[in-house]
Amino acid sequence: MIVVTSGNSIQGQLGVDFQYTIPGDKSISHRAALLGAMAEGDSVYKNFLVSGVTKVMLNALTETGISWDLEDKTLFISGGGLKRRMNIQNYDQKMVRIECGNSATTMRLLAGALPTMAIPAVLDGSPGLRKRPMSRIVHPLTEIGVLITDTNGCAPLYIEKNHDPLNAFSYELPIASAQVKSCLLLAALAADGVTELSEPGPSRDHTEKMLQGMGIAVEKEFIEGKNLEDGRHWERYVTRIHPSETGILNPVKSTIPGDLSAASFLITAALICQESELAIQGLGVNPTRTGLLDVLIEMGADIRIENERMVGGEPVGDITVWSSKLEGVKVSGSRVVRMIDEFPILAIAASYAEGVTEISGASELRYKETDRISSLCCELRKIGVEVEEKPDGFSINGGRPSGDATIDPHGDHRLAMAFTIAGLASQGPICVTNPEIVNESFPEFLGILKQLGADIEVENES
Ligand code: S3P
Repeated sequence: MIVVTSGNSIQGQLGVDFQYTIPGDKSISHRAALLGAMAEGDSVYKNFLVSGVTKVMLNALTETGISWDLEDKTLFISGGGLKRRMNIQNYDQKMVRIECGNSATTMRLLAGALPTMAIPAVLDGSPGLRKRPMSRIVHPLTEIGVLITDTNGCAPLYIEKNHDPLNAFSYELPIASAQVKSCLLLAALAADGVTELSEPGPSRDHTEKMLQGMGIAVEKEFIEGKNLEDGRHWERYVTRIHPSETGILNPVKSTIPGDLSAASFLITAALICQESELAIQGLGVNPTRTGLLDVLIEMGADIRIENERMVGGEPVGDITVWSSKLEGVKVSGSRVVRMIDEFPILAIAASYAEGVTEISGASELRYKETDRISSLCCELRKIGVEVEEKPDGFSINGGRPSGDATIDPHGDHRLAMAFTIAGLASQGPICVTNPEIVNESFPEFLGILKQLGADIEVENES
């Protein structure tokens, strides 16, 4: 159980020049491991996120015969190449069984990559992961020519051996999803021509950027218009990928930027706690990920982003944040996609803001580690927040939560971290059960928070 006492001030500096740094970006770390495994030769990634979900990806790659090594936070990985693209007919790979734990990213990305690597597999996961929708990848993968089946729309997934080239195709994703898009981009590496994917929102584009850095031609296009019948505005975000001419992905040496999603918890802590000042160096500020910063600034947050530069093909910046008086805000449309993982912590910022915050167009939150709309509303009520659940979002009437509650994070690392932050400024203390779940994405979370001045204890529940 995490026990958080309120009345804290968050003070400090994080980054390479200081004692603590923010861990490497989770999405980029997942892709680094997998793309490193698909490359022809040895890749090195500094500032790799070493956590529950990325270890699941690394262990999965071990099952497929890939060798890798971690020295502190540097990942060394020897790629096995794009066997299917290279048309290696006699490649005799046995069916592998891969355990994806709680990591939907691992499962969905592997489902696209393994056919390209000509590796037949069974992909399974925790009871929680087995409930998450997989037909969103199985349906388009089948169209592309991958022999894949699901189990009632979910895991386990079965990918069979088949050496025929995959069909280049054009596909409209019904929802914006970087996992679905990336899964299809990785499969498209083994296709017989240009594949075109279009999405209704700007989902994170790390896969595209990393593939470009490895020698693959990827084009992006934004198109918009008005529906003739109802006059409604529509927009599509198009990605076109050319299969590798040579059948080779070039290995890379790169540094992974700090994870803005992980930092969001600390940024919000500094905003809601009195007399705080927090500086974080080297954070990823890719525009497909910065929705929360835009929203917080609109709420009145005192946030400065400086020294913007490129690191490993990604935009990076240094951020300073001070305690701020926040006001309610409306969040909908493409901003939802640009902050899809940040709603648990936005809900906490909104609980401390003056006035009403309304979230809409966010029904995708129901398909995350937990149904984040209903779980958030349920736990927010426990700490005295006035909240209304809606089919595609929720609204919060802010103030200062009463606290004095024990929170169930519903097996969701982001809920556990969000409610820990809530306890730093609530009227009474907040306890969060199942603290180890934070290790899935941010193992240093509690240690860094304490270092920044938070009054937190972890009690053994047994
Ligand atoms: C991720 C994409 C998002 C996000 C997840 C990581 C990724 O999922 O919620 O934490 O690394 O591609 P969706 O693509 O399902 O929205």
